[in-house]
Amino acid sequence: MSMSLIAKTISESATLKLNEAAAILRSKGEPVIHLGGGEPKSKAPIDALVAAAAVLNSGEIRYTPADGIPALKKAIIRYTDEFYHRKVDPENVMASSGAKQSVMVCLQALLNPQEEVIFPTPYWVSYPEMVKLCGAIPVAATPEDGSFYPRLNDIEEKVSSYTKAVIINSPNNPSGAMYSEQFIAEIVEFCEKRGLYLIMDDIYHRLIFDGRKPINCYDYAKDHSENSKLIVINGVSKQYAMTGFRIGWTVANKKLIEVMANIQGHQTHGPSALLQHAAVAAINGVQSSVESLRVTLENNRRVMMEQLNAFDGVKATPPDGTFYCFADFSAYGKDSTKMSEFLLDKVRVVTVPGVEFGMEGFLRLSTCGSVKDITEGVERMKWALDPNSPNELYIGDRKLVRDWT
Ligand SMILES: Cc1ncc(COP(=O)(O)O)c(C=O)c1O
Repeated sequence: MSMSLIAKTISESATLKLNEAAAILRSKGEPVIHLGGGEPKSKAPIDALVAAAAVLNSGEIRYTPADGIPALKKAIIRYTDEFYHRKVDPENVMASSGAKQSVMVCLQALLNPQEEVIFPTPYWVSYPEMVKLCGAIPVAATPEDGSFYPRLNDIEEKVSSYTKAVIINSPNNPSGAMYSEQFIAEIVEFCEKRGLYLIMDDIYHRLIFDGRKPINCYDYAKDHSENSKLIVINGVSKQYAMTGFRIGWTVANKKLIEVMANIQGHQTHGPSALLQHAAVAAINGVQSSVESLRVTLENNRRVMMEQLNAFDGVKATPPDGTFYCFADFSAYGKDSTKMSEFLLDKVRVVTVPGVEFGMEGFLRLSTCGSVKDITEGVERMKWALDPNSPNELYIGDRKLVRDWT
C-alpha cells in the first residue's frame, strides 16, 4: 500500500499502545497494575457533570463556532486573568478538542516544511510526531549537565537559521521537573530577542508540590502587543481530571488565533458543544477538586519516592509536580522498551519506556493510581528486576516463580 511520506515517519503513540495492551490483559482477568497512565483517577467536578447533563437534556446540541463558544472563551479569559494576570480579548483565545489539538493546530499554523522546533529532553512523546506531521523537523535539546533542568545554553546551541519555535512544558511530562523561574525568564527573553515563537505547554501548571507557585511566563515578556510570539496552551484534562472531555485552549496573538481557527474549522470544527459547556462549569465552578487532586498527587509522589529509594540501582529525582516520576533503571538494562515489555509480561506492571521521551534506560512511572498500586507495582518490579529477590512472588493466590536471571 502506498502511504504518504509524512505518514510513514509517524510512530504509534507509545502511551496509547500500552493502555490498549493493559486493557486487553485486564479484560482477560489478569491482575494488571497500571503505572503507565497519564490521567487522574478522581471524578470530574460535579459542576461540569451538571452542566453537560443540562445541555444533553435540552436535546439541542449543535455545531459551535470553530474557535469555541463565547462562554468558554469568557471562562478562559477569566482564567488567564487569574493565573497569568493578563487581560486578553476573545480574539486572543481558541478552544480545541484537547490541549493536544491546540499544540497540533498551533504548529500547523506556524511551520513550513524543513523549519525546526526545539524542545528540551525529556519531552512529551507527541511533540516530535506533531512537528513531523507538519513536514518540519523536531530538534531535542538534551541538558548538558544530565539533569531534567535545561539551561538557556542547551536551547541556544540548537538554534539554527531554520528554527521557528521552542516548546516548553513545565512542569514536565515525563520528568515532573518544574523549570526554574530564571530559566523561564531567560527563555522568554531569548525567544523575544531572536523572533522565535515560544509555546508554553502549561497543562500541569497547577499540579505542583512543596509549596511551589505556578510560574507566569508573561511576567518576563517585554512585548505585550499583538506582535507577541508568546503562546500559552492549557486545558481541563489534567487539573480537573477531565481527560475524556477533550477540551484544551490556546492564548496567543489575534492573527495567529485567526489562522488557527481557519485550520481547525476545516479539520474538526469547534469542539463538542456538550463538552465545552462542561469545561466552562469546571473553570468557573468550585475549585476544591484541583487542590484535593494536587494533595493526593503530592502524597503519592512521596510514596513513589520511598519505594524507589529502597530499590537498589534505581536513581530517581523527586518530581516537582505532575503525576509522573521518571526514574533511571539503566542498572537493570539499557533497552527501556525491552524492560517495559518484560515487566508487563512477567509481573503485569505497565510502565512507559524512557526512549519514547528521548531518554534510554529510564522508565516513566505514574502516580495517578492508588497508594496500593504504587507500592505493589514497584514491589513487583523489584522482584522481577533484582536478581537478589526471593524465587517466588504471590499476586493474590497466584504464585509466580522466577525462571530468569
Ligand atoms: C505535556 C502534555 N501536553 C498536552 C497534553 C494533552 O492534553 P489533552 O488531554 O488536553 O489533549 C498532555 C497529555 O498527556 C501532556 O502530557
